[in-house]
Amino acid sequence: MASRASSATNWARRVALVTGASAGIGATVCEHLVLRLGMKVIGCARNIDKIEESAVKLRQANTTGSLHAIKCDLRHEDEILAMFAEIKEKYGGVDVCVNNAGLAHPATLLEGKTEQWRNMFDVNVLALCICTREAYQSMKERNIDDGYIIHISSMSGYRLEQPATNVYAATKHSVKALTEGLRLELREIKSNIRITSISPGDVSTEFCLRMYPDDPSIHEKSEAAKKCLEPKDLADAVVHVLQTPPHVQVHDLLMRPTEQTT
Ligand SMILES: NC(=O)c1ccc[n+]([C@@H]2O[C@H](COP(=O)([O-])OP(=O)(O)OC[C@H]3O[C@@H](n4cnc5c(N)ncnc54)[C@H](OP(=O)(O)O)[C@@H]3O)[C@@H](O)[C@H]2O)c1
Repeated sequence: MASRASSATNWARRVALVTGASAGIGATVCEHLVLRLGMKVIGCARNIDKIEESAVKLRQANTTGSLHAIKCDLRHEDEILAMFAEIKEKYGGVDVCVNNAGLAHPATLLEGKTEQWRNMFDVNVLALCICTREAYQSMKERNIDDGYIIHISSMSGYRLEQPATNVYAATKHSVKALTEGLRLELREIKSNIRITSISPGDVSTEFCLRMYPDDPSIHEKSEAAKKCLEPKDLADAVVHVLQTPPHVQVHDLLMRPTEQTT
């Protein structure tokens, strides 16, 4: 049998794209990939001021890594394709794609607004598919066989919690199917590129504040009820899966706050 690589990839100076890098989990994942793995990280979002601020701070750190911001509204395929073209031109291509950007609107099946359902599916599902395809194509054209796709999914891919999040949960159930679908497609072509989902329960970010912009008390109650996961816990999980040896395929990491019941 042909010998296979058995040690973890050295990710220093390799290129990672992290979507939704302007806040919460994405912002912290960017920092950890730069500081702990020495990666060249491209962070995208609609608001790039915070990514640029973080990039400046990270320049003072003793690391081979760096952070670069690209403005991209993931609801628009032309903007996603332009982002990948810019990454190819400036940085060569994508070796790791962290599909993190996501959002929820309180929009029930009986009363919800179509525009809110569309926004959730556009960002949480369609953009994740487009970024995954473009990242794979970028790896393929450069003969990269150790690349990595990571989806930040949710415990909402596993259970329905409340009517307001039924459609959000449908997007995350989709991510669960897309994770296994991608794994099977990669197996079919005998690729060693890996796919992992990370599915958290409540994480202390702006997520709930953005979901209920007119009622910050919902976020406050959720935070007061338990010690939520921190973005760093998710960044630790991302770094962990990237450091597993090539023969290890972590499929989905389910992570709840210890005190969370649902
Ligand atoms: N927080 C939780 O409790 C929790 C639990 C389970 C799963 N998750 C998942 O974790 C991921 C990250 O969430 P988070 O908690 O870090 O949320 P967050 O603090 O609200 O950050 C969301 C990020 O997504 C970006 N984003 C939203 N719409 C976008 C668009 N149209 N184009 C580009 N970027 C867009 C935002 O950037 P801009 O607004 O600047 O564009 C922001 O950077 C999501 O997929 C979410 O579903 C979160």
